[in-house]
Amino acid sequence: MDTSRSSKAEIVSLIQNEEKSLDDEVQQLEQSLPKEEGWTSGSGKSLYLYQGFWCLARDLKSVISLQKHFQAFDSDVFVATSPKCGTTWLKALTFSTLCRTQYARDQHPLLNSTPHQLVRFLEFDVYLNNPFPDLENICVYKPRMFATHIPYASLPTSIKDSKCKIVYICRNPMDMLISLWNFMGKFRDQIQDPPMSLDEAFDKFYRGIYLSGPFPEHVLGYWKASQENPDKILFLKYEDLKEDISCQLKKLAMFLGVPFTEDEEKQGVVEEIAKICSFRELKEVQVNKKGLSRFGTPHKDFFRKGQVGDWSNYLTPSMVERLEKLIHEKLDGSDFSHFGEIFLEIG
Ligand code: A3P
Repeated sequence: MDTSRSSKAEIVSLIQNEEKSLDDEVQQLEQSLPKEEGWTSGSGKSLYLYQGFWCLARDLKSVISLQKHFQAFDSDVFVATSPKCGTTWLKALTFSTLCRTQYARDQHPLLNSTPHQLVRFLEFDVYLNNPFPDLENICVYKPRMFATHIPYASLPTSIKDSKCKIVYICRNPMDMLISLWNFMGKFRDQIQDPPMSLDEAFDKFYRGIYLSGPFPEHVLGYWKASQENPDKILFLKYEDLKEDISCQLKKLAMFLGVPFTEDEEKQGVVEEIAKICSFRELKEVQVNKKGLSRFGTPHKDFFRKGQVGDWSNYLTPSMVERLEKLIHEKLDGSDFSHFGEIFLEIG
C-alpha cells in the first residue's frame, strides 16, 4: 500500500477497509476450507488446510495479509523452517553471522534478546493483528531478517522474485515429531488441556496435520527450490549442524555473502558464534529462561534436549515403520536422496 501522498485520515480509512476485506476473506475461507482440531483447545487453535498446508485459524489473516502486502528487499534474509526443526538455533546462527560487526564482541545481543526477538516470525509476530507493520523500525539490525514456517510455494511473490536469501533447515521427522509432541504437551499443560497421547500426536503428524504440515511437502518444496536456485536458498540439516557446526557456519556465512576472513578465523570468531548459539549456552541465558514470546509460548520451551535420535526413547517399531514408509513414498521419484539417507542411517 503506497501511503506516501495520503493524509492521516486517508491512511486510517485505507487500513480499516483493508482489515474489513481481510476479515471477509478469512470468514469465507473458514466456511470452505478443510478443518481439523488443532493440538490444543481454544479459539484460533483449529487448523485449516490453506493452499495445501495446515494453518492455525489464528494465523490465516496474517498469512493472507503478508502474502498480499509484504515487499521483500534484495538484501533481506529469511529463516524458513518447519516447527521444531531447529528454528531457534538457525535464527541465532544467522543473526550472529550476519550482524557480527554491528556490536562489541562482549555485548552480543543474544545475551539480552531471544533469537525469536532478533529474527521475528512474519506470520505469528510481525503481521499478527497488523496488516501494515512498520517493517523498517521493527528491524533494528540490518539487513532485515525474518522467519517463517510458510511452505515455499506459498511465500509472498516478492520473496520468490527478489534476490533475497532464504536459509532452510530440516530435521529427521521422528525427532521433529517427538519435539513437537513435548512442546505442545507443555502448552496443553499451561492452558490446562489434558495430555495428548503419543498415539494421537503420531496420527496427526502422520496425516500432516500440524502447523505448516505436511512435512514431506514442506521439505521437498524448499529442497527443489534450493536445487534450482542455490544462490538464493541454502538447505541445511539439523543433524549436520550437530555434527560439525564450524563447517556449517562457514557454509552459512559464505552463502550469506559474509564469509569469515582469515583474521576472523584466526581470532576464533567462528567458534565464538558456535558457542554463544549452542544449546547449552542459549538455554542458560536469563532472557531465554523466563517470559513469553509474542505468540504466547514460554521462551524456555524452545530449549528441551537438543539431541539427535531422541525419538528412539519414544516411538514404537510400528510407528517408525509407518513413518519410514510414508517418507519414502513421498520422496520416491524426487532427487532428494540426502534426506532418505539421514532417515535410514538414524532409523
Ligand atoms: P528437542 O525438543 O528435540 O530438544 P524450533 O526452534 O524449531 O522450535 O526447534 C526446537 C528444537 O530445537 C528443540 O528440540 C530444541 O531443544 C532444539 N534447540 C533449540 N535451540 C537449540 C540449539 N541452540 N542447538 C541445538 N538444538 C536446539
